[in-house]
Amino acid sequence: MSSPKECLSLALILTWLVLLSICQDDLAVNREAEALLKWKDSLPSQSVFDSWVSPIQSSNDSTLLTPCKWYGISCNQAGSVTQIDLSDRGINGTLQNLDFTSFPNLVRLVLYGNHFSGTIPATIGIASKLQLLDLSSNSLHGALPLSLANLTQVSELDISRNNIGGILDSRLFPNASNQPQTGLRSLKYLLFQDTLLGGKIPQEIGNLKFLVSLVLDRSHFNGSIPPSLGNMSHLQALRLSENQLSGKLPETLATLKTLTDLRLLFNHFSGIVPKELGNHSSLNVLHLAGNNFTGQLPPQVCRAGKLVNFTADSNNFSGPIPVSLRNCTSLYRVRLEHNQISGYMDQDFGVYPNLTYIDLSFNKFQGELSPNWGQCKKLTLLKVAVNMVRGKIPDGILKLSQLVELDLSSNQLSGEIPAEIGNLTKLSFLSLKDNKLSGSLPAGIGSLSNLESLDVSMNMLSGSIPYQIGDFSKLRSLCMSMNKLSGGIPYQIGNLAYSLQELLDLSYNSLGGEIPHQLGRLTSLEKLNLSHNNLTGSIPDSFSNMVSLTDINLSYNSLEGPIPDSEIFQSAKPEVFSNNKNLCGNISGLHPCTKTEQKGGKNNKRKLLIIIVSSLAGALLISSLFFGIWRNQHTSKSQNSFSIWHFNGRILYEDILEATKNFDEMYCIGMGGFGKVYRVDIPGYDVLAVKRLNLQARDESEIETIKHFGNEVAALTEIKHRNIVKLYGFCCRGIHIFLVYKFIERGSLADMLRSENGAKELDWVKRLRVVKGVAYALSYMHHDHVPAIIHRDISSKNVLLDSKLEAHVSDFGTARFLNPESSNWTEVAGTYGYIAPELAYSMVVTEKCDVYSFGVLIVEVVMGKHPEELISCLRSSDKASIQHKDVFDPRLLPPTGLIADKLGSIMKVAISCLSANPQARPTMRIVSELLEIVQLPTDE
Ligand SMILES: *[C@@H]1O[C@H](CO)[C@@H](O)[C@H](O)[C@H]1NC(C)=O
Ligand SMILES: *[C@@H]1O[C@H](CO)[C@@H](O)[C@H](O)[C@H]1NC(C)=O
Ligand SMILES: *[C@@H]1O[C@H](CO)[C@@H](O)[C@H](O)[C@H]1NC(C)=O
Ligand SMILES: *[C@@H]1O[C@H](CO)[C@@H](O)[C@H](O)[C@H]1NC(C)=O
Ligand SMILES: *[C@@H]1O[C@H](CO)[C@@H](O)[C@H](O)[C@H]1NC(C)=O
Ligand SMILES: *[C@@H]1O[C@H](CO)[C@@H](O)[C@H](O)[C@H]1NC(C)=O
Repeated sequence: MSSPKECLSLALILTWLVLLSICQDDLAVNREAEALLKWKDSLPSQSVFDSWVSPIQSSNDSTLLTPCKWYGISCNQAGSVTQIDLSDRGINGTLQNLDFTSFPNLVRLVLYGNHFSGTIPATIGIASKLQLLDLSSNSLHGALPLSLANLTQVSELDISRNNIGGILDSRLFPNASNQPQTGLRSLKYLLFQDTLLGGKIPQEIGNLKFLVSLVLDRSHFNGSIPPSLGNMSHLQALRLSENQLSGKLPETLATLKTLTDLRLLFNHFSGIVPKELGNHSSLNVLHLAGNNFTGQLPPQVCRAGKLVNFTADSNNFSGPIPVSLRNCTSLYRVRLEHNQISGYMDQDFGVYPNLTYIDLSFNKFQGELSPNWGQCKKLTLLKVAVNMVRGKIPDGILKLSQLVELDLSSNQLSGEIPAEIGNLTKLSFLSLKDNKLSGSLPAGIGSLSNLESLDVSMNMLSGSIPYQIGDFSKLRSLCMSMNKLSGGIPYQIGNLAYSLQELLDLSYNSLGGEIPHQLGRLTSLEKLNLSHNNLTGSIPDSFSNMVSLTDINLSYNSLEGPIPDSEIFQSAKPEVFSNNKNLCGNISGLHPCTKTEQKGGKNNKRKLLIIIVSSLAGALLISSLFFGIWRNQHTSKSQNSFSIWHFNGRILYEDILEATKNFDEMYCIGMGGFGKVYRVDIPGYDVLAVKRLNLQARDESEIETIKHFGNEVAALTEIKHRNIVKLYGFCCRGIHIFLVYKFIERGSLADMLRSENGAKELDWVKRLRVVKGVAYALSYMHHDHVPAIIHRDISSKNVLLDSKLEAHVSDFGTARFLNPESSNWTEVAGTYGYIAPELAYSMVVTEKCDVYSFGVLIVEVVMGKHPEELISCLRSSDKASIQHKDVFDPRLLPPTGLIADKLGSIMKVAISCLSANPQARPTMRIVSELLEIVQLPTDE
């Protein structure tokens, strides 16, 4: 029992101790606070540090006595700093004045995503409790301080992606698919991403015995891997890709029992990869690509059956395929191309249910393609180019329904191309070049509707070219040279006008007949080689439309007549035309054309004209069918003044001529891509707008015009909607086609918005109504009309306003019936600035393209002008940065109250319509329902 006195003195001692400890903590805390303030003061003044205020400056707030509540600072219970997290704030400055000696309890230092420059201070080694050091995405440079080796508590070390200086530009790495994963962060690691660190990896790094992950990708490290890495008995991930490391891999790597992820790609390593690699650990990812390794691949890389991603491409590996790969069902991606690996395609590989990608090209593989490959059902890419593979193409391979790229070029494959090749409907790249394939090209190949590149050159293929090739609406490059193909060139190749851009090579075959003039439609084609065939007749005049050609070869045929009259042909080298029958022109090596030869050229033109005229007649015939239906429906219903119209349209033509004084410019009210529009007042009739399509242009555009015309009539005569411009009918006279519309008094929305007075007259309420009108028209066309019609060219030019400023959508020139049977592929249609982004890479037009253009239109109506690049801000998350004043047409008073709300709602609709992902855009039905809710005060 202790006496009360003793109790009292014990209590006093305790109190004193507590006080003392608080005092000490306070001292430490003050030191920490002072160190932080000192650092802050060394940096340019930045708002992120606003809460970092000295206690003296705000002594009335006692909570600021410690830094624990400052932005980015966390403390332990004793009030000492354990974490500094200033990530992603774009802070400028250096770390030189951050005094690491002041933070005895610092566990995490997270500074990624800033602009810190300079070097990593050597004093960092003093913060010995650090577990996570993340300095990624900064501008640090220099070498790793050796003192890092004193940070023995660090469990993960990541200094990856050192590309701020632009030295390791991604363009330097053509095999981009091999780029390492980025953004690897976990709670406990040391990270120096996106800095300019470099130098050697210090031997002392081996001291970090507890390191689990060492990530130094994309930096400037050189020298070799220190063998001391073998001491890191917990190491799971070692990622050193994209540095300048060299030398042999230390044998100790293979002894790390925990290693699952080894990435060494794009360095200068050489020598042999330790044979034992994989013997003691269970590898999941192994990237050895892009080095100078020699010798064999380690045989046990997949001993544990866990290997998922394996690359060893672009080295000097030789010898057999690792035995453990045969049963390695976990494989997902494999790249072994560009080595000297030997092996047998039908023996060394098994069935890999998860394999999506395997490239074995440029090696020494032999044997036949086993049907097993057909059971790797997920394969999207299979490349075995430039090997020594024999035998037939097995049917099994043709079951790979996911296959996108198949490259079997430069082998010794024989037999025919199986007809079932058409089953590979996802295929976009097919090369069978340089084999011994024979027989004819199967017509089934026409089902490969996604094909972008087809190369069957350098085989022994015979028979004719399947005309179905004209259906490959995405084909960019077609090479069939050096075969024994005969027959004519299918004119359908001309249908590839908008896709075939790179190459058309049919050279060194036995093709005969005349060159189809339709090839002249390939106006984007760069390389054309028809040489070494038996082509006869003249070079089609239409070839002068091929304005993109950089390479032409028509030599070694039996062509005659004049060289096409275009700069590209006239300035071509003589070899291009050599060894033909009788070509003429003002080119050295050719004789100048005689009169008869030129006439021959004219004759050609005439033939072309006849074709055009007859196809025009065809188009009209089809159109008149539509018109007939229209007429029958309407004559019976009403005494429509135009019911007397018929195909010939003689009476009206005279009337139109008279009313427009023979199409005097004074009656011209507009001009579109396909002709002028005239106002026609005929006494006793409504006022009309007559669109006069002129067919005197070059043949290419004539064909377009006819197509255009057929579409326009077919679509429009069937439509009756209050927000769609009424087409009464059409007539044809000589080389002109006339479309007769109801005249819409106030002209286009574009013109209205452009004029100062127009813009003022079109107040907020009227603008909202315009938007709604267009939405109803589109919703009707997409969802109520059968078949659905996509407008394809919604823009303010194609929205006309009547006397009450109500919207009428016009110009269905590019509309086409949305027939589920027919392909929706199309040439680029629409108006620049309104075209949905997906059309840039896929040309599939869906009604969502209209939805996008409509979104642009809404913004335009609100702003009073085309939004230009503001569109991308609206689409991105950056909406907040758009000021109201930027959005509302300054020519009107700023909207208030209800109207402002409505405008806000339709802008939201616009933003959803502008989504980059077509699927994320609402349908026009939903849009018009949404707008329905936007009731206006003056709406009925
Ligand atoms: C850093 O400097 C840049 C350029 O001087 C500046 O734009 C940026 O706002 C600065 N960062 C901060 C957080 O102040
Ligand atoms: C590591 O720590 C030890 C002892 O604390 C010290 O002597 C040594 O200088 C430090 N090493 C480096 C490179 O800072
Ligand atoms: C690769 O290694 C071989 C010898 O092993 C050497 O001759 C060659 O120069 C090296 N290539 C490169 C690019 O380092
Ligand atoms: C394998 O590679 C693919 C494609 O690069 C990647 O998405 C996947 O995450 C990788 N798997 C592993 C385990 O690294
Ligand atoms: C592959 O698996 C089979 C059966 O599962 C086994 O018999 C064979 O030894 C394995 N081969 C290799 C090389 O591991
Ligand atoms: C195939 O991939 C799936 C999903 O990633 C995985 O669950 C499965 O285990 C894999 N199969 C093999 C044989 O590794």
